[in-house]
Amino acid sequence: MFLANVSLFDFRNYMELDLALERSATVFFGGNAQGKTNLLEAVALAALTRSPRTQQAAELVRFGQAAARVTCGVQTDTGLKELEVRINLSPVAAGSRASRKFTVNGIPRRSSDVIGSLRVVLFWPDDLQLVKGPGEGRRRFLNTLLSQIDRDHARELNRYSHLLTQRNALLRAIREARQPVDGLDVWTTAVAESGAAIMVERQRRLLELQPIAAAFHRELSDDRERLELRYRPAGARIGEAPLELVVEQLKAAMREARDEEIGRGQTAVGPQRDDVEVWLDDHEARLYASQGQQRSAVLSLKLAELHYLAEVTGEQPVLLLDDVMSELDPARRERLLAALEPGPQALITAADLNDLPKSILERAAVFRVEQGGIHA
Ligand SMILES: Nc1ncnc2c1ncn2[C@@H]1O[C@H](COP(=O)(O)OP(=O)(O)O)[C@@H](O)[C@H]1O
Ligand SMILES: [Mg+2]
Repeated sequence: MFLANVSLFDFRNYMELDLALERSATVFFGGNAQGKTNLLEAVALAALTRSPRTQQAAELVRFGQAAARVTCGVQTDTGLKELEVRINLSPVAAGSRASRKFTVNGIPRRSSDVIGSLRVVLFWPDDLQLVKGPGEGRRRFLNTLLSQIDRDHARELNRYSHLLTQRNALLRAIREARQPVDGLDVWTTAVAESGAAIMVERQRRLLELQPIAAAFHRELSDDRERLELRYRPAGARIGEAPLELVVEQLKAAMREARDEEIGRGQTAVGPQRDDVEVWLDDHEARLYASQGQQRSAVLSLKLAELHYLAEVTGEQPVLLLDDVMSELDPARRERLLAALEPGPQALITAADLNDLPKSILERAAVFRVEQGGIHA
């Protein structure tokens, strides 16, 4: 599988773009605010169905326009597959709300049926937050990875998100005495069942990801540091527990927290509150690691994501490297370059071509990005 072409229409600062891509590496260089990140964001949107940098799809539509479109041609063993996302601003609340519509080869699809058609690993400066930022970033890391491996997981995440929204609405209605409390149990059970399925899967995948990340980190730290990922499920002790037991644990935790849940109008436990702590040598990296150690830990996580995705699916994902080469010291840069060797397709941006190693430039197609245009 590789990304054969990208076309954009009124996406961010691109009015119209048609771009054919190399099977190996393509470099995009240009000054600030020209559209380098926007281009990789468009590819990530088509692949993951959501922008990695905003929750508000409306922001993706070019200023002053009503709709945006991103189309990605994916070459597979069986032919060319065309993934398309259309973002339409809502005519009523103009500028603030937008809908996302997906098609594959022209046929309308739900987001959870699109994901996995084009697998990507995005690595960009914001990823430093993976180690030092809040749990949300680490949950997104897991959701992205697991959804790209397994569409059932993407469906379960969607289902859970709907159930959670409904249960939270009911909690608020109970608080305001608009609904009786008896109706809650049904939603508690539904949320616990879906939440437990997600948590058990997270635990299983993390156990497989952990040794891979640890091996990369050991190498990056010259054998000095031991990296560990510790799953912290919110409201359950997963361990070796079977699914039914986790469901019971979540139900019990919700019953126990009921007054608090009604008071806040929010579900207190479940995968939306999970965290994955990154530890280095028995200390949590978020709190104790130096910036350099945190950078190595982030790089280890990203390399593990790339490696694991390729291993489990049997296909190399497309690597999207946004402005990261210049941020890495020579040793870490070498490690990242080594990961490019077995040949994942890579889209690489840089402010300056001097930021990129010769070994990449020699084998890459190079384009200049200027004001939402791409030039050979
Ligand atoms: N919806 C939009 N419509 C038009 N321009 C936009 C939109 N969103 C962002 N931009 C513009 O895109 C530019 C940033 O592009 P970006 O790809 O992040 O730059 P860089 O090349 O530095 O990575 C900014 O000038 C910003 O104003
Ligand atoms: Mg940028």
